[in-house]
Amino acid sequence: MGIESSCDDTSAAVINNNILLSNIIANQNIHKDYGGVVPEYASRAHQTNIIPVIDRALHEAKIQINQLSAIAYTRGPGLLGSLIVGTSVAKSMGLALNIPLIEVDHIHAHLLSHFIIEPGYPDNVPQFPYLCLLISGGHTQIINVRDYNVFETLVNTIDDAAGEAFDKAAKILGLPYPGGQMIDKNAVNGDPNKYKFPEPRVKNTDFSFSGLKTSFLYFIRDNLKTNPEFIEKNLPDLCASIQYSIITILLKKLINISETTGINRIAISGGVSANSSLRSTLTRYGNNRGWELFLPRPVFCTDNAAMVAIAGYYKYLNGDFSGQQSTPYTRYKIS
Ligand code: KG4
Ligand code: ZN
Repeated sequence: MGIESSCDDTSAAVINNNILLSNIIANQNIHKDYGGVVPEYASRAHQTNIIPVIDRALHEAKIQINQLSAIAYTRGPGLLGSLIVGTSVAKSMGLALNIPLIEVDHIHAHLLSHFIIEPGYPDNVPQFPYLCLLISGGHTQIINVRDYNVFETLVNTIDDAAGEAFDKAAKILGLPYPGGQMIDKNAVNGDPNKYKFPEPRVKNTDFSFSGLKTSFLYFIRDNLKTNPEFIEKNLPDLCASIQYSIITILLKKLINISETTGINRIAISGGVSANSSLRSTLTRYGNNRGWELFLPRPVFCTDNAAMVAIAGYYKYLNGDFSGQQSTPYTRYKIS
């Protein structure tokens, strides 16, 4: 069983070897009105949700709790109060059932989401090495994945993550949290070339999104001064244009890194990889460049326990277990 509780999704999944039997996710609507995740509310909701979510994961997998052979759980990074809920439940289950505990890094889990095998869906599993564009609410990286447990970070962000760029743009437009999905939805009928925003000028190879956010903020503020209905009247074009800018920044760097490393196996993961325009643009670019592409189904892009279970499975095969002394960490750990 995999358990995920690092942010605002409570999830439990059951796998049999690498085959997914169930993946239950409880989202937390409570944060909508606050423009972001409120950590205290998140941990309270995890407390309420975690046992029913585990029960349903077992039920859908059609197994009894005493048939579990190991528990993998997200140890970090994430919100401490949220992580404590999943970690404590995993440890209790490990102790009560006398089965191994496996700590999983949340980023590691996103990176291995491509290895989830789901009955009824085609298997499309990358060979090593592959480049993974990991784009979530907290991280934006290009990682060379050399093996199940061997990663090399090639590009990082010096300020905001891509998901934050989406969420902050959505907030400026008055859209509810989480904003990425709302921008994606509203952009469908918009013109991506209607408004242009400057590309970041960073000296090194890293990503940067804070300049884009600021120029978007000033652009909206200035237009609202002369036209108070500016957002209402232009919402699809505004969403499509800011989305286009973020996607362009991401894909330019990805092309550059693919060229310098010579790696043509390209994967995406993390919440932003659910973005429909990113997926179609990447597919078009990739086909033109002869890339082998790996796009997880959207349910495995955003936070879920199936990816924790699969990352746990490959640690299980190595006998890489953790003990009761393991405590959550809030910051990025893998290297
Ligand atoms: O991986 P994830 O669920 O949680 C973290 O580990 O952070 O990613 C959440 C992020 C949020 O910033 C959310 O706005 C963004 O993923 N996101 C999207 C879409 N769906 C989720 N961004 C753009 N388009 C989407 N369809
Ligand atoms: Zn995540």
